[in-house]
Amino acid sequence: MLAQQKNMLLKNLGCSQVLLAFVAIVLPSLESHTMGCPARCECNAQQRSVVCHRRRMQNVPEGIPTETKILDLSKNLLGSIRQARFASFSELEFLELNENLISNIEPGAFSKLPFLQSLSLRSNRLKLIQLGVFSSLSNLTSLDISENKIVILLDYMFEDLKRLERLEVGDNDLVYISRHAFSGLHSLRELTLEHCNLTAVPTEAFHSLHNLVTLRLRHLNIASVPPLAFRHLPKLRELELSHWTSLEGLLPRSFQSLNLTSLSLTHTNLTAVPHDALRPLINLRVLNLSSNPITIIESRTFSLLSHLQEIHLSGALLCNIEAHAFHGLKKLKVINFARNQLQTLEQNAFEVPGSIQVLRLDGNPLACDCRLLWILQHHQKMSFEEKPPICSTPAHTRGMSFRDLSDKLLHNHFMCQKPHITVKKQRHQVAIEGQLVFLQCHADGDPAPSISWISPWKQRITYKSTGRMTLLQDGTLQIRYAQIVDSGSYVCIASNAGGNDTHRSILTVKRFPSQSLTFNNGTLMYMANDYNGTDPKSIDGLMSGEYDIMTVLVAIAIGCFTFLGVVLVCLLILFLWSRSRGKKKPNIHVEFVPQNLETTTTGDTQRPVTRQISMRMI
Ligand SMILES: *[C@@H]1O[C@H](CO)[C@@H](O)[C@H](O)[C@H]1NC(C)=O
Ligand SMILES: *[C@@H]1O[C@H](CO)[C@@H](O)[C@H](O)[C@H]1NC(C)=O
Ligand SMILES: *[C@@H]1O[C@H](CO)[C@@H](O)[C@H](O)[C@H]1NC(C)=O
Ligand SMILES: *[C@@H]1O[C@H](CO)[C@@H](O)[C@H](O)[C@H]1NC(C)=O
Ligand SMILES: *[C@@H]1O[C@H](CO)[C@@H](O)[C@H](O)[C@H]1NC(C)=O
Ligand SMILES: *[C@@H]1O[C@H](CO)[C@@H](O)[C@H](O)[C@H]1NC(C)=O
Ligand SMILES: *[C@@H]1O[C@H](CO)[C@@H](O)[C@H](O)[C@H]1NC(C)=O
Ligand SMILES: *[C@@H]1O[C@H](CO)[C@@H](O)[C@H](O)[C@H]1NC(C)=O
Repeated sequence: MLAQQKNMLLKNLGCSQVLLAFVAIVLPSLESHTMGCPARCECNAQQRSVVCHRRRMQNVPEGIPTETKILDLSKNLLGSIRQARFASFSELEFLELNENLISNIEPGAFSKLPFLQSLSLRSNRLKLIQLGVFSSLSNLTSLDISENKIVILLDYMFEDLKRLERLEVGDNDLVYISRHAFSGLHSLRELTLEHCNLTAVPTEAFHSLHNLVTLRLRHLNIASVPPLAFRHLPKLRELELSHWTSLEGLLPRSFQSLNLTSLSLTHTNLTAVPHDALRPLINLRVLNLSSNPITIIESRTFSLLSHLQEIHLSGALLCNIEAHAFHGLKKLKVINFARNQLQTLEQNAFEVPGSIQVLRLDGNPLACDCRLLWILQHHQKMSFEEKPPICSTPAHTRGMSFRDLSDKLLHNHFMCQKPHITVKKQRHQVAIEGQLVFLQCHADGDPAPSISWISPWKQRITYKSTGRMTLLQDGTLQIRYAQIVDSGSYVCIASNAGGNDTHRSILTVKRFPSQSLTFNNGTLMYMANDYNGTDPKSIDGLMSGEYDIMTVLVAIAIGCFTFLGVVLVCLLILFLWSRSRGKKKPNIHVEFVPQNLETTTTGDTQRPVTRQISMRMI
C-alpha cells in the first residue's frame, strides 16, 4: 500500500520534473521574445519585427530589441540619421524610413549592418547623399531613395553596393547624374528613374550597369534619344520610356546595340511608329506604343521584328491600318488597339490572322461590314479580354457587341457594297500642251471606295504620288502642264473590300498652236485652234482666264525646237510686250519644259525637269 503510494508519488514527481524542465527550457526563450518592445510600437516575436507607424517620433525609439530583423519607422518625424545609429541592431534585414523629414544622413549611418537587404528612404527631404552613406552595405539588394529633393548623384556614391539588384531614384529634382555615379552596381538588375529634371539620357553613367535587365525612364523632359544612347547595357531586355512629352521622334540608331525583348514607348509626342529605330531590335517580343498621337500603321512597318508577339497601341489616334501592316509577324498573338479612331481592321493586315489570341478593338468607331467578318469567323479562338468590339456604323448595327452576334445574323449585317463609278461622261478629252487637265472619277460603294488611276504607261497613281500627275481628294486626276506624251488611255479603279469598278478616259494632248499668235494694235494676241470667234483674245485677257501667262510662255517654249528658240521667242514676246506697254520690266523670270521630253517617256515623265531662265530687259 505504502509502496504503491510511494510509486505514484515518484511518478508524479517524475511528471512534474519533466514539466519543470519544459518550463525551464521554453519560458526563457518566450520571455526574451515578448519583452523589449518600444512603447507605442507593434512587435512580432516570430518575425522579429518592430513596426512604429505614425507615432510622431523625432528620434529612433529606445528599447528596440537588438535581434530585430525588420524595423519599420515610416511616417514619423525623424530629421536626421547619425553615424552608426543602427549599429546595435546588427541582425537587421529590412529597414524602412519612408515618409519622414530626413534631410541629413551622416556617412556611416548604416554601418555594421552586414545582413541588411532592403533600405527604403522614400519620401524624405534629402538634397544630397554624401559619399560613404551606403558604405559597407555589402548585402543590400534593394534601395529606394525616390521622392526626395536630390539634385545630383555623385561619383561612386553607390560604390559598395555590390549586391544591389533594385534601385529606385524616382521623383527627385535630379538635374545631373555624374559619369561614375552608378559605379560598382554590378548586380543591379532594375533601375527606375522618374520625374527628374534630366535633359539628356545619362549614357556614360549607365556604363557600369553590366547586368541591368530592366530600365524604366518615366516622366522626363528629354526631347531626343541620341544614337547609341544605351550602348553600355548588354543585358538589358526591358526598356520603358514613358511620359516623355517632348519626344517627337527617334533617330534610326537610337536603340542600336540593344537586345530588347520588351520596349515600351508610351505617353510621348511620337506621331508615327518609329520603325527605323525599332529595326535593330530583332528579338523584340512585346511592343507598347500606347497613348501616342500615332494615326497610321503603314504597310510592312514591323517586317524585321519577326519574333514580335504583342503590339499594344491603345488610347492613340489610329485611324488607318494599311494592308500588310503586320507583314512578317508570324508569331503575333496579342493586338491591343482599344480606344482609337479605327473604323476597321482588315484581315489582309496580318500575315497569319489565325495566330491572334487576344484582340482588343473596343472604343473604336467600327464600321461593321464585310471587312470585319474575319474577326467573327475566328472569334471562337480569340479573346476580347471581356471587352468585345462594338459596332458603330451602319446605323442598324449600332451598339451591337461582337459577343452577342450569332452566326445567322452575321451575313445580314456584315455586308459590303461593290463600288460603282458614277461619272461616266468625258470619255474622250482634248487638251492643248501646257494646259491643266482634270480627268474625273467619282464612285459610290460601302465602305467608301478608294480610287487610283493607271496611266497610259501602266503606272499607278495614288494619293501618295507626286509630280505633274496628282490624285485629288475627290478622285479626280489632275495633270499639270499637259504634254503630248500624256496622250493615251487613263483607267480609274475604284475598289473596296466588296470588289472594284473601272472606268477608262482617253486624253489627247495637241501641240500648242504657236502660229496663231498675232501682233495687233500694240497687243500680243492669241487664237486657239478651237476658237471660232472673230476677235482674237489678247494675252492680257488670257491671264485672267483659263490660262495664265506662265502657261502660255511654257507652251510656246515647248513649241520651239531648241533652247535657243525658246530664248529667242521669249525675247521677242517680251520685246513686243514692253513696247506695247511703254514701261519696261527690268527683269523677267521664265519657266519652261524642254522639248526633248518625248524621248524619256517611260520613267520620268511625271517629273520633267523644269528649267528656268532669267532675263534682263535693256
Ligand atoms: C549576407 O547575408 C548572408 C545571409 O543572408 C550571410 O550569410 C552573408 O555572410 C552576408 N554577407 C556579408 C558580406 O555579410
Ligand atoms: C525641376 O523641375 C521642376 C518642375 O519643372 C521645378 O519646379 C524645379 O525647380 C526643378 N528643379 C531644379 C533643381 O531645376
Ligand atoms: C507635341 O506635338 C505637338 C505638335 O506636333 C505640339 O503642338 C505640342 O506642343 C507637343 N507637345 C509637347 C509637350 O511638346
Ligand atoms: C539577345 O536576347 C535573346 C533573348 O533574350 C538571346 O537569346 C540572345 O542570345 C541575345 N543575343 C545577344 C547577342 O546577346
Ligand atoms: C502599355 O502602356 C500603357 C500606357 O502606359 C499601360 O497602361 C499598359 O498597361 C501597357 N501595356 C502593357 C502590356 O504593358
Ligand atoms: C478587281 O477585282 C477583280 C475581281 O473582282 C480582281 O481580280 C482584280 O485584281 C481587282 N483589281 C484591283 C486593282 O483591285
Ligand atoms: C488700239 O488700241 C488703242 C488703245 O490701246 C485703242 O484705243 C484702239 O481702239 C485700238 N484699235 C483697234 C483697232 O483695236
Ligand atoms: C463657236 O463659238 C460659239 C460661242 O462663241 C459656240 O456656241 C459654238 O459652239 C462654237 N462653234 C464651234 C464649232 O466650236
